[in-house]
Amino acid sequence: MNPEFYTTLPAGTEATRIIGMNRLPGEASVLSPEVQTALRRQGFDGSLGKTLPMLMQTSNGMENVLIAGLGDRPDLSPRRCRRFGAKLADALRGHTAVLFRTKDIFPGTRPDDRALLHILTGYCSRQYSFDNYRAPEKTCPPQRLIVEDPGAELLSVLWNTQGRVVDAVHRVKQLVSTPPNVLYPESMADMALQLREFGLDVEVLDEKELERQGMGALLGVGQGSARPPRLVILRWQGHSDPSCPPVVVAGKGITFDSGGLSIKTRPNMRGMKHDMAGAAVVFELLRCVAENHLPINVVGLLALAENMPSGHALRPDDIVRTMSGKYVEIVSTDAEGRMVLCDALTYAVSRLSPACLIDIATLTGAMSTALGWQKAGLFCNDDTLAAKLFDAGEETDERVWRMPIDEDYDSLLKTGDADLENATFGQNARSIFAAKYLEQFVENKAWAHIDIAGTAWSEKDTEQARKGATAFGLQLLYRFLEQSASS
Ligand code: BES
Ligand code: MN
Ligand code: ZN
Repeated sequence: MNPEFYTTLPAGTEATRIIGMNRLPGEASVLSPEVQTALRRQGFDGSLGKTLPMLMQTSNGMENVLIAGLGDRPDLSPRRCRRFGAKLADALRGHTAVLFRTKDIFPGTRPDDRALLHILTGYCSRQYSFDNYRAPEKTCPPQRLIVEDPGAELLSVLWNTQGRVVDAVHRVKQLVSTPPNVLYPESMADMALQLREFGLDVEVLDEKELERQGMGALLGVGQGSARPPRLVILRWQGHSDPSCPPVVVAGKGITFDSGGLSIKTRPNMRGMKHDMAGAAVVFELLRCVAENHLPINVVGLLALAENMPSGHALRPDDIVRTMSGKYVEIVSTDAEGRMVLCDALTYAVSRLSPACLIDIATLTGAMSTALGWQKAGLFCNDDTLAAKLFDAGEETDERVWRMPIDEDYDSLLKTGDADLENATFGQNARSIFAAKYLEQFVENKAWAHIDIAGTAWSEKDTEQARKGATAFGLQLLYRFLEQSASS
């Protein structure tokens, strides 16, 4: 999806025109007061996000238009702009071309460039559907989005960067939707090797190398599967000083989570191809950082394994030696995400001298019990880092809410026969337990953990996401890195 930008539209352009209408009568609108009154009488009152497609007689003859409600007065916060754009996208499915003319939508005052970019981002990132294995949906998104605005030249320059973020969102959804017989640790690692063409340094550790590095936790999770595990290291050296400590971002990449011997129930196993959503975000984040040449050093880690039961599988009661040297007793083989991540975190602190560490993972079912699909959990040992991630989430409408991991929760980690247990059978504070477990591996580094178990996949169309993979975290983390690069 590539918007076309014009200061003045070429003659003869045919497209469905978007027209804005406020809720309060008397605000500027392209619509005459008579038309507005007629619409209000029929129940369309210009509430924010309401839309009405219609045919209108204008000086151009009969024209397809979409009336878009702006509310009392346009609220131009990033979140509102993105959701407004998404509403337009939903309402315009089935139309072939769309005319987004700023002065038709906001005839009073033109929103600033950032607000317009947010609207276009909301519009474009809403358009994805996964059609690799079926006929495309009957009502396709419009092929063209034609933007007419006095600032078209600058907008098109800004879109060069922002459009790549939107493309990355689509590719994350593609990766997450790809079935687990096609996407598994080796195949995802092979795809990662292709990222070299964008200037990334890509290294893949296979099972022999993982053995040499002592990554017993990652190996343990993968050992039940016919598909061996992998650790992928993606390096971007954008900073003028190559030795400037990197931001390290690690993603949970369980390409299918059956639970292992602690096997999931039938309904709970369905959909577990999306348990690599964290790794998919990190994969595309690094590509996007490279494509946009962000002046910052970043390392992405993909902790890839398939969690399966078999005669080779890890057992409850097994004790594995993690790369850190800490021994972990397996209470549940279904608590595998924290296992693959703890070795990735140790790799980061011991080999990469990170400025800070962030992991993103579909870690605990309890996360959606706590926060639903509306927000992801943020667990962080550093207030400054937490605040930056929170702000990046507000701006990109990928919102996070901070969860506690203070010493009140230390007692969760009471041990059995090893240094640590990977889970408890208790029902309480399960997401916090998982975060406290990960915290044991970050030494004294500033670290944040984002649990996207409730937000990575949407069961239905909502205001924030369409049904299916959401790519949650990509835009948030990109924004965070963009901000870090410029400060
Ligand atoms: N991948 C799951 C968490 C999950 C559940 C993500 C539902 C998305 C939707 C994770 O590996 C898991 O199985 N967690 C267990 C941990 C438990 C065994 C301690 C859970 O949350 O029940
Ligand atoms: Mn699991
Ligand atoms: Zn899992």
